[in-house]
Amino acid sequence: MTYTLRTLFFMFFALLLCAITASSDDESYARILTKFKSSLSNTNMLNNWIEPVENLCNGYKPIWTGLVCDNGTFTGIKLENMGLEGTVDVDSLADLPLLSLSLMNNNFSGTFPYNDLKKLGKLRSLYLANNRFNGDIPDDAFSGMKSMRKVVLGFNEHTGKIPMSLLGLPRLVNLQLQNNHIEGRIPDFWQQNLIVNFTHNKLEGPIPSTLSSQDASSFSGNINLCGKPLEPCKPKKSIPKIAFIIAAVVGVALAVIIIAFLICWRRERPLKYEKSIDNHHAEEATHKDTENYENNFEQGKLYFVRNDRERFELENLLRAPAEVLGSGGFGSSYKAELFSGQPLVVRRFQQMNNVGKEEFSEHMRRLGRLSHPNLLPLMAFYYGKEEKLLITDFVEYGSLASHLHGKRSPNQPGLDWATRLKIIKGVARGLAYLYKELPSLGLPHGHLKSSNVLLDSTFEPVLSDYALTPVINKEHAQRFMVAYKSPESTQSDLVTRKTDVWSLGILILELLTGRFPANYLKQGRGPNADLATWVNSVVREEWTGEVFDKDMNLGRHGEGQMLRLLKIGMCCCEWNVDRRWDLKEAIEKIEELKERDSDDDYSSYASEGEMYSSRAPTNDGFSFSNA
Ligand SMILES: *[C@@H]1O[C@H](CO)[C@@H](O)[C@H](O)[C@H]1NC(C)=O
Ligand SMILES: *[C@@H]1O[C@H](CO)[C@@H](O)[C@H](O)[C@H]1NC(C)=O
Ligand SMILES: *[C@@H]1O[C@H](CO)[C@@H](O)[C@H](O)[C@H]1NC(C)=O
Repeated sequence: MTYTLRTLFFMFFALLLCAITASSDDESYARILTKFKSSLSNTNMLNNWIEPVENLCNGYKPIWTGLVCDNGTFTGIKLENMGLEGTVDVDSLADLPLLSLSLMNNNFSGTFPYNDLKKLGKLRSLYLANNRFNGDIPDDAFSGMKSMRKVVLGFNEHTGKIPMSLLGLPRLVNLQLQNNHIEGRIPDFWQQNLIVNFTHNKLEGPIPSTLSSQDASSFSGNINLCGKPLEPCKPKKSIPKIAFIIAAVVGVALAVIIIAFLICWRRERPLKYEKSIDNHHAEEATHKDTENYENNFEQGKLYFVRNDRERFELENLLRAPAEVLGSGGFGSSYKAELFSGQPLVVRRFQQMNNVGKEEFSEHMRRLGRLSHPNLLPLMAFYYGKEEKLLITDFVEYGSLASHLHGKRSPNQPGLDWATRLKIIKGVARGLAYLYKELPSLGLPHGHLKSSNVLLDSTFEPVLSDYALTPVINKEHAQRFMVAYKSPESTQSDLVTRKTDVWSLGILILELLTGRFPANYLKQGRGPNADLATWVNSVVREEWTGEVFDKDMNLGRHGEGQMLRLLKIGMCCCEWNVDRRWDLKEAIEKIEELKERDSDDDYSSYASEGEMYSSRAPTNDGFSFSNA
């Protein structure tokens, strides 16, 4: 066989190159470890970490201090009791085959980089106990870490809530968070064989029934925690005994009526709901209905309220890769992607115990029957004693709030007038549908604001977070929901079917001015003077013509229409409920609006303006005139 010289040279170089670059896995791991070590300080005890090293392990014995070896294979890092300080560069460990990482009993402080933890995809145990790590543990810190078994974070200075992503770890057997400053409620852990320790934190509320067989020493030292294995949760005290007995009797009577009603209702409409939940059950005969109804509330089950969506189990959902979309006081939301790649939104509510489970699911089914292009459809729900999850589609273009107030790239134009008009018409239609379909609700929406108006790719608006007042705890609703910031609620503790009109008015003013209603979303109750000031300032500038958002790119063609919408907004914001328009009137006026003024619109506008301003908001402690 003959080769050209060139080929031979090439082969020679190729061999040489291989000899240089081929190093054992352990050698490259050693390089990574050395880099990791450089991010730490006080590392005297790691003095034998010297490169080069061919093997990190000799059987079960590590060659370098603080490594874990399994029969010749490097599998973990165990740097304990070494007085280590500095930053923990978790990111640099991403290419190591780590099954365990322990930094227990050191002198670390500051935040641990939980956001990088997911890069250690095979990790089975994480030990960070006995340091001074502080800050919140992000809700999605453990998302997708399916192998994780032990999470030991006790004796640190962590704050915030127990991260929800722990519920997505199917193999979790040991969770230790004791002696931190963790607050909020304990979520419904469902993993079997799980042992927890939450002692000495600031947790509150009832212990989930799934954890009631744990040792009491796992929960002590949390002043506001109750229920098995601790003391039973006290019913609200200070109710006179007689009242209590009467309430109980009435309650029982009501329950009997409701059950009777449910049975009859089910006979009439056999199994419609079960069919949509579980085809298997649907095969069964009608006389088992009530039984099925009970069975449907097994631990950890998702209930689907419509038929046109992909089916999955709660477990699939909890294991799916997820990201946090927002975690407001009202409830957190996550975006999760299932097998089909179809993104979903999971809303997590902890303050939804206003009604029992039958009534809750009844309400959810009612919402599931709603169908309108301007409403975000409810797909499924989960009912846990402490926690409720509501599952909906993901709407890709974000919220109206983010378009109005978010950062844009320089070339990206703002929403023009035509788009804004389309949006407000869609919002009005969605609201009108809610009012028609939910005649028994005092507040058919209750939480209308720009961040709850989502936009699809054609800028068609879709309302979310509607009709939740019947199930949200009253006190929580009063703190967070928009309807309870209305003048009638803050002044006379009253909400009516005109309260959503007020929220619509604020939304219109926000849409037209592009300005965020200052402190509108401020928590708590009490007269909201800032909001009054805000509305006032809009009204005042209307006279100077400065009020409209410049991003609308208005020519003269639409200005008359914009002014009309502004007047509509003001009439909806009327402080006095009797004088405020009802929804029907507001919607009629909105539907009349056009993109462009016709020729005679502009002249006729003046007289109509008179008509509006005679009905414009007047004062009730807050002056709207700029006299
Ligand atoms: C240890 O590894 C050797 C060779 O890699 C293998 O033959 C032996 O079975 C392993 N021992 C155990 C206990 O896994
Ligand atoms: C831990 O760090 C603190 C300062 O951050 C220092 O005062 C203390 O001596 C350190 N403890 C040990 C054991 O190194
Ligand atoms: C929980 O941790 C505390 C230490 O803070 C300990 O005293 C208690 O025994 C632990 N409980 C369980 C069940 O391990």
